[in-house]
Amino acid sequence: MPPSNASTNSIRDPFEWFDTWFKDGLNGGLANADAMTLCTIALDGRPSARIVLLKAVEDGKFCFFTNYESRKARELAANPFVTLIFFWPTLNRQIRVDGTAEKLLREKSEAYFATRPRGSQVGAWASKQSREIASYADLESRVAEFEAKFKDAPVPCPPHWGGFGVTPTRIEFWTGQPSRLHERVVYEKASTGDWKTSLLSP
Ligand SMILES: Cc1cc2nc3c(=O)[nH]c(=O)nc-3n(C[C@H](O)[C@H](O)[C@H](O)COP(=O)(O)O)c2cc1C
Repeated sequence: MPPSNASTNSIRDPFEWFDTWFKDGLNGGLANADAMTLCTIALDGRPSARIVLLKAVEDGKFCFFTNYESRKARELAANPFVTLIFFWPTLNRQIRVDGTAEKLLREKSEAYFATRPRGSQVGAWASKQSREIASYADLESRVAEFEAKFKDAPVPCPPHWGGFGVTPTRIEFWTGQPSRLHERVVYEKASTGDWKTSLLSP
């Protein structure tokens, strides 16, 4: 069973808890259990959110992949603070992660890109993510152009494509409970590097 508030004090590492819940989500028959809302700060200071897929939790970072010229990447270049939200409805669980995003090492992006289906690899070259296009026919012709360019050769990772890792400063675990008396357990990173835990009223 995943931990509840009653056992919180015995879990000092929120990544351990995250891992348990993430696996419950993936094994629970939920579509897109690895999807998370990524909220950035737009260049005009307003929030800006979209779904991306969590591909790994490595070296204390929540990792996703995207186009480095996309809206989100341009926003992250100006302001690296983000919030990630996971929601697994059938499990009645939410996780909120506040942290700072930075680009992954190039070799990590290239290694992950190499595992993607060829169609997605070609698509990463063809799509100028977040830029206006005149029509889908234009996009299809760019796909055809890159398919012809790479023919049967391996598709390299585009320079404008790669991963980000989010290092958390705060992680909140929310469990839905009857009468809206939901459990909220917060982990905050102290300046010592330790995680401080607290409970919040629902
Ligand atoms: C289930 C789902 C998963 C997605 N996964 C990704 C992803 O991993 N990376 C990505 O760049 N966009 C992903 N998208 C598309 C984004 O939501 C978004 O449309 C795109 O990244 C452009 O966002 P931006 O203009 O804010 O940069 C996903 C969308 C959905 C609905």
